[in-house]
Amino acid sequence: MASDWWRGGVLYQIYPRSFADSDGDGVGDLPGIAERLDYLEWLGVDGIWLNPIHPSPNVDWGYDVTDYLDVHPELGTLADLDRLVSEAGRRGIRVLLDLVPNHTSDRHPWFRERPDFYVWSDGIPNNWRSVFGGGPAWTLDPARGRYYLHNFAPAQPDLNWWNPEVRAEFDRILRFWLDRGVAGFRIDVAHALVHDEELRDDPVGPDGIRRTYSMLRPETHGILREWRRLADAYEPPRVLLGEAYTLDMREWAGYYGAGADELHLAFAFTLAHAQLEAAEMRRVVAEVEATLPSGAWPCWTGSNHDLGRLASRWCDGDEALARCALLVLLTLRGTPSLYYGDELALENGAVPPERVLDCADPPRDPGRTPMPWTSEDGWNDPWLPLADSARNVEAQRADPGSTLHFARDLIAVRKRLPVLQTGSYGELPAPSGAWAWQRGAEVRVAVNLGSEPVEVENIHGEVVLTTSRRREGGRVEGRLRLAAREGVVVVSSASIAESTSAPHA
Ligand code: NOJ
Repeated sequence: MASDWWRGGVLYQIYPRSFADSDGDGVGDLPGIAERLDYLEWLGVDGIWLNPIHPSPNVDWGYDVTDYLDVHPELGTLADLDRLVSEAGRRGIRVLLDLVPNHTSDRHPWFRERPDFYVWSDGIPNNWRSVFGGGPAWTLDPARGRYYLHNFAPAQPDLNWWNPEVRAEFDRILRFWLDRGVAGFRIDVAHALVHDEELRDDPVGPDGIRRTYSMLRPETHGILREWRRLADAYEPPRVLLGEAYTLDMREWAGYYGAGADELHLAFAFTLAHAQLEAAEMRRVVAEVEATLPSGAWPCWTGSNHDLGRLASRWCDGDEALARCALLVLLTLRGTPSLYYGDELALENGAVPPERVLDCADPPRDPGRTPMPWTSEDGWNDPWLPLADSARNVEAQRADPGSTLHFARDLIAVRKRLPVLQTGSYGELPAPSGAWAWQRGAEVRVAVNLGSEPVEVENIHGEVVLTTSRRREGGRVEGRLRLAAREGVVVVSSASIAESTSAPHA
């Protein structure tokens, strides 16, 4: 398998508690994921990344780890993980884990036994704010009579990345999982690891506090470079996908280092934060393309366990628009990362206040509700409510006109046309409300995100896929008419001939 499978591949994010429950206790688990590998193979994804699977008191649902080298008993065992990795591997699906290196749980044994692994101060030394709640990022530990740093919840003390022993521990943690055959990591808050050693105040501007000193320190790049060397030394090389959360494009691009010596992939959150609107998205993508160092490869997503689901955020439930969004994510230059349920145009769930479990405000639970497998939902008293299963796998799989089939066909087209995986991106002229681009010389994509029909000029070739499923297999010679909320992929004849004679990847 190609060592850079992740460039052309499609990633699929699984929130393990909510994906599939093998033992009927209402909590999804690793054997449940393994049971659904047939589905993932049928859908055509190349890699899955799992939100944290480690033992955790779940103050922040797994992002507060008490043991980096084990599996949370509710989710399964190490043997279940090994089985998942090998069964997925047999289907050509790689498994990435979520690495949480910025902080542990305050119940991690290190917090008591290795105070030098954390960051302490006799008083509150600066204006750093906790991401959750917005209060001081420092809390008094009564046992020690000192304050510890927590950029997130008080139950998530920050690790002290100035301590070489912390670095050594994490090298061991990375190797532990990579040696087991894990394909890489999604790295939680990859921009946050190192804090300013002098504990200088974060600057406060008109838009509020900027985390210049509590996070985003230049020294973090050195850690990412080391991990890149470690990942690249494996055979096959492993992949590092970073949550480098900054909307400053230059800063974000910096997490790719010189292009090939830090993260392999970093989520382009600027697109996720944009409106699903042609002019805005086109501008964001042009900026990403212009800013990335050569060799760097973007990663696109519209949904995740923090942001919620694209079918709600971008599309207000409109399925035609959700298909346009999928078309965008899967045909730009870069790796798409789908969130479980995106392929169904699944919307955020309804979680009444008494069922809210998240520590953030507003709570993120609506974007974490269980995967609806059947019209009766397929769950037994799930940990988060599943109120609406109108959009479900069973019904959509039985309907060739469904969004699920559209998503599958889109992934298949991407696989069939290598230029859609690795070809260059070039913007094309398009009327207001629409956005058009080419991949390489032979593929054109046009999408009308507006509510009026439009015509895009100068498009020639065979229509291989449309969000409306109309006109597929037809030809367009010059003027492409797009209905409101419709997108198409058009391929020049030469490329079709090539792709049908070449073996399918
Ligand atoms: C980012 C994760 O995606 C989010 O869910 C978590 O709460 C914070 N990092 C803290 O780990």
